[in-house]
Amino acid sequence: MRSYRAKMVEPIRLPDREEREAALDRAGHNVFNLDSDAVYVDLLTDSGTGTMSDAQWAAMVQGDEAYAGSASFTDLEAAVSDVLGFSRIVPAHQGRGAENVLYGCLVEPGDVVLNNTHFDTTRAHVVEHGGEPVDCPVDGALDPATSGDFMGNFDVGRAREVVDEVGKERVPVVVVTVTNNSAAGQPVSVANVREVRAFCDDIGATFVIDACRFAENAYFVREREPEFADASVAEVAREQLSYADACIMSAKKDGLANAGGFVGVRDDPSFDDLFERAKQRAILYEGFTTYGGMAGRDLAAVAVGLREAVTEEYVRDRVGQVRWLGERLDAAGVPVVQPAGGHAVYIDAGTMCPHVPSEEFPGQAVVCDLYREGGVRGVELGEFAFPGTDRPDLVRLAVPRRTYARDHLEHVVETAAAVADHATSLAGYEVVSEPPMEELRHFSAELRPLT
Ligand SMILES: Cc1ncc(COP(=O)(O)O)c(C=O)c1O
Repeated sequence: MRSYRAKMVEPIRLPDREEREAALDRAGHNVFNLDSDAVYVDLLTDSGTGTMSDAQWAAMVQGDEAYAGSASFTDLEAAVSDVLGFSRIVPAHQGRGAENVLYGCLVEPGDVVLNNTHFDTTRAHVVEHGGEPVDCPVDGALDPATSGDFMGNFDVGRAREVVDEVGKERVPVVVVTVTNNSAAGQPVSVANVREVRAFCDDIGATFVIDACRFAENAYFVREREPEFADASVAEVAREQLSYADACIMSAKKDGLANAGGFVGVRDDPSFDDLFERAKQRAILYEGFTTYGGMAGRDLAAVAVGLREAVTEEYVRDRVGQVRWLGERLDAAGVPVVQPAGGHAVYIDAGTMCPHVPSEEFPGQAVVCDLYREGGVRGVELGEFAFPGTDRPDLVRLAVPRRTYARDHLEHVVETAAAVADHATSLAGYEVVSEPPMEELRHFSAELRPLT
C-alpha cells in the first residue's frame, strides 16, 4: 500500500514512434542526449529525480540563505548526526563534489584504493588523484545468473591478496559502497562491514562508506540478516555506519532531495586533521563550509529528507516498488538480475541479445529499443559504460523515489516485454565520437547502429 498521495502533478506525454525515432537519431543513439520531454517514463537514474514531501517543501521556504552560519546547515548537521551518526560534516553540491573533497585529501599518486565496486564517479576521482581503483566484489557479484542475500559485499580475502601484492603502505583507503550500485544495487551486510573494519585496522587504512543508499541497504539487512530481524531501519543504518571513519553521501539518493551531498567525518581526534583539510578543500571547490554549493533551501530539504528516508513506511514502499517491477519483468520473460536491488532493476542484455558481442554493446541496443518501443529511458551499464572491465552487459532501470505510479511501471513492463520478444533482431552499435576520459564515455559519446 502506497504511504503517500500526490499533491502536485507534472504532465508527461508519450511522443509517437516517428518522433521517438527522430529524437534517438538526433541524440546520437545515446539516451543521455535526449530532451526529457521526449521521454515518457524516465528510469535513467534515481539520483535527484525523486519527488519531495510537503514537509521538505515547507522546510525549503524557511531555508536560511546566509553565506556563513546558516541555520539550515545546523539542521542538516543535526539530521546527519541523528540518522547517520556523523556529527562532523562538510557539505558539497552533490556526491561527486564530496568525493572530490574527501579523495583529494586521502589519495596520493601511486596509491591503491579498494572498493566493493567503484561507482563510475568514484573510479574517476581516484584516477584523477593518481590512484589505482581496485574492485573487490564477492564471487558471482558481477554474474547476472548468480543470486544471494548480500551480493553487494566487499571480498576481504581478495583485498588481502591485493595488500600482499602491493604492500599496505600503498592502500590508505578502503571504501564500501552501500548498496553496491555497480553490482546491480545489491546490499552489503553489517557483518561484512564489521569484517572490513577489522581489515582496515590491520592495514592502517581509513575506512570510508559511500552511503548514498544507506536506508535501502538497511532495509535489506533487516530482512536478511537474522541479528537485525527486530531492529528498526533507522537502528540498522546507525549500526552499519558506525564502523566507518568517514562517509560520502549524495543526498540526491537517500537524502530524498534534488541536490546536495556531504562528507561525514568521525568525531575522533585522530580525524581532526582530515576534517580540517576536507573543509579547506571544500572552500576551494564547493563553497563555504556551512553551505558547500547548496542553497540554504537545499540544506533544509536534505535535513528533512534524511529523517524521512529511515521511516518504515517510506523505505518499505520504496524497496517494495522496485521489487514489484523486478518480479513483473521476470514474469513477462525479461531476463533480470534476481533478486532486485534497492533502487533499480537490471536487465541482463547479454542474455537477451546473445547474437550481439559485448564490443557491439548489447546493453545499448536494448536501451535504444526501450526508448524506441515505449519512450522508456534506462541506461547501459556494461562494455559501453565501463570499457574493457569485463562487466556483464546490463541495462539499469532506476526508479525515481515517490514519483511513478503502478500503471507507469506496467507500461515499462509491457515495453520491455516487447523488446524481449524481438531482441534477436536487434543490431549492435559502434562508437562514432567519445570524450578523452574513457571512464566518462557513456555520458556523452555518440553511436551508430551496425546494420
Ligand atoms: C554509489 C554512488 N556514489 C557516488 C555517486 C555520485 O553522486 P552524485 O551523482 O550526486 O554526484 C553516485 C551517483 O549515482 C553513486 O551511485
